[in-house]
Amino acid sequence: MHYLVTGGAGFVGSHTVLALLDAGHDVTVLDNLSTGHRSAVPAGVPFYQVDLADYNATKAVVGQKRWDGVLHFAALSLVGDSMREPMVYLRQNYITALNLIQACIACEVKKIVFSSTAALFGGPERSEPIPENALVEPGSPYGESKLMIERVLYWADAIHGLRNACLRYFNAAGADPVGRAGEDHRPETHLIPLTIDAALGRRSALKLFGTDYPTRDGSCVRDYIHVNDLADAHIRALDQIEERSVAYNIGNGQGYSNLEVIQSVERVSGKKVPWVPASRREGDPAVLVADSSTLRRETGWMPRFGELDQIVETALRWREAHPYGYSS
Ligand SMILES: NC(=O)c1ccc[n+]([C@@H]2O[C@H](COP(=O)([O-])OP(=O)(O)OC[C@H]3O[C@@H](n4cnc5c(N)ncnc54)[C@H](O)[C@@H]3O)[C@@H](O)[C@H]2O)c1
Repeated sequence: MHYLVTGGAGFVGSHTVLALLDAGHDVTVLDNLSTGHRSAVPAGVPFYQVDLADYNATKAVVGQKRWDGVLHFAALSLVGDSMREPMVYLRQNYITALNLIQACIACEVKKIVFSSTAALFGGPERSEPIPENALVEPGSPYGESKLMIERVLYWADAIHGLRNACLRYFNAAGADPVGRAGEDHRPETHLIPLTIDAALGRRSALKLFGTDYPTRDGSCVRDYIHVNDLADAHIRALDQIEERSVAYNIGNGQGYSNLEVIQSVERVSGKKVPWVPASRREGDPAVLVADSSTLRRETGWMPRFGELDQIVETALRWREAHPYGYSS
């Protein structure tokens, strides 16, 4: 099979590119390198530096082959930034996805897998694992932009037969266990790499945003999912959408508090994590844990890295081996 991957130079995209190659598929990457890294794309993988905001350039790549499917990772994805610049987020994520989806329809692509998010459920407080049929009520413009794209995909299927999988990731984390790829967001805002860098003395004390949430220790609770398990879910979703479109929540089903993440990094690294309490960030719900039973039941997916320490260990190994991240 030959797949086109947008955002394949980014964190989740690059790990999924590796998983697709490992499964024997051909992969082409489209990325504007705004947050991704050229060197995260394996040698030999065709690469197009294209901005999805440019419809004609996007369509030129989409029209190059009869792809067996498109995987759409490219987006702006910082909740905090979206609270400060809501119109930028709503416009950018919507328009770029619309361009891609329209190009897919024009070029008769039959399948697309879309990186959606748990931020769809970011509004009201919940403590139970969230199933796909839970009320969708984004707590941020970032989450809202993903919901808008899910709705576009609904109509793209209903009218044009573009089958789609909307994969609502919870917190992607970890790194390729054999060290071929890792997490290198600039700036980094994700808790696990920040905590690891604090333990390794590469940054000042970690800021713990919110210590007064109604959770077991006052810090936010999140469901961390290893990026290779996420990649595996994409490959399974591609098979699953031959006949009908799907939406799946992807997480381990177990929540860890921010303080528990700090403890895990201390356990795995053997080093102390310096941290200081800070006020809550706007748009951050107290608890987000996935109910992924639909994905498990329908595709046979099972996370291989279910324990937080396993996730932290792969991330730590990559960050130790790449103190400056990717070279380009
Ligand atoms: N990382 C997470 O925990 C998480 C959680 C939920 C959902 N998601 C979603 O998963 C996807 C991937 O996240 P990530 O952490 O790998 O992000 P990332 O920033 O590492 O990767 C995004 C990639 O898309 C590219 N890109 C961005 N805008 C583009 C454009 N206009 N045209 C072409 N390329 C563009 C970037 O250069 C980058 O390589 C995003 O859609 C994100 O919203 C991520």
